[in-house]
Amino acid sequence: MVKDAPIGVFDSGVGGLSVLDEIHRLLPHESLLYVADCGHIPYGEKTPAFIRERSRVVAEFFREQGAKAFVIACNTATVAAVADLRSDYPDWPLVGMEPAVKPAAAATRSGVVGVLATTGTLQSAKFAALLDRFATDVRVITQPCPGLVELIEAGDLNSPALRQMLQGYVAPLVEAGCDTIILGCTHYPFLKPLLATLLPPTIILIDTGAAVARQLQRLLDERQLLAEGPPRIAQFWTSGDPQHLRNILPTLWRFTGVVRSFDR
Ligand code: DGL
Repeated sequence: MVKDAPIGVFDSGVGGLSVLDEIHRLLPHESLLYVADCGHIPYGEKTPAFIRERSRVVAEFFREQGAKAFVIACNTATVAAVADLRSDYPDWPLVGMEPAVKPAAAATRSGVVGVLATTGTLQSAKFAALLDRFATDVRVITQPCPGLVELIEAGDLNSPALRQMLQGYVAPLVEAGCDTIILGCTHYPFLKPLLATLLPPTIILIDTGAAVARQLQRLLDERQLLAEGPPRIAQFWTSGDPQHLRNILPTLWRFTGVVRSFDR
């Protein structure tokens, strides 16, 4: 692997752009390749076997592109596929992500933590293990959010329908006394401005994008693979409609970028 090889970043759709943003802020010299599997959204309602297969297809694509590292910018794909990917590519720096239960358990003062995530993430054995490990002293209220991802994918970050759906998902967490809410799906950080209008200002929102970027930096640094030179522009592929992604990209990403079709 060489320093100026690209980094592959993958999500079921546009949610991983919230992670890509953190990576680009921390590592602007890196060349970033982003695959959005929009043709198969939402992963939250798919079987682990299906998600593993899609993750493998994307991993192979990044290998062909010579990627020096692979970031699964999706909580749902991580719980389904990270173990298999690690065993398939043992020497490839790979960063997955999981809901921020540990930092939330440390941050809460009320002792009640809420988790917004997909059904797939919340039902997984990996999430249960995370709670056993880090949440023994706090009460955790989990809230699956079917329908949210589809609206965000449509480019909707603030419609009345979205507001009503989100209000329905956060109300039980507020009533239960949560003072800390984990955004356990990479699509949800795009809803922070809307959440700020729906939640009491004392509630803390925690997501893991910045931690993923730091972990990626550590892995590359250890291998002396951090890129140098001028800032680079990201490239995008989607298994959905490329024109749709071109249309909504400016709402979700600060820069321009070429969007191509991912037809695998
Ligand atoms: N962005 C994904 C996550 O972090 C999942 C969205 C989906 O259901 O496809 O969990």
